[in-house]
Amino acid sequence: MLGMRGKIEKADAFVIGAANYYSMLNGLSHCFLERFYQFRHQEGKAVAGKLGVAVGIGGSSGDRVVEDIKKFW
Ligand SMILES: Cc1cc2nc3c(=O)[nH]c(=O)nc-3n(C[C@H](O)[C@H](O)[C@H](O)COP(=O)(O)O)c2cc1C
Repeated sequence: MLGMRGKIEKADAFVIGAANYYSMLNGLSHCFLERFYQFRHQEGKAVAGKLGVAVGIGGSSGDRVVEDIKKFW
């Protein structure tokens, strides 16, 4: 995450894509979104007001993944 900080802070918008594993957001993406919290917490406001797009993919459906991603936003 450290290497991505500058790019995240400068970005105008975010596209977060993740896979459906066992009818939920896959684990690696979950970890990433947990770390993403720092941008809306103490140093905050780095992502406030910016556009975010959630993309979910799956063998049968990515809908649940989209809902999981939106919980972090
Ligand atoms: C451990 C594991 C669990 C998965 N569980 C689901 C699932 O519950 N529902 C689903 O639609 N797809 C499931 N998939 C399929 C993945 O979403 C799919 O592999 C991923 O979207 C990437 O697509 P690809 O395999 O065609 O590259 C699972 C895949 C793995 C590896």
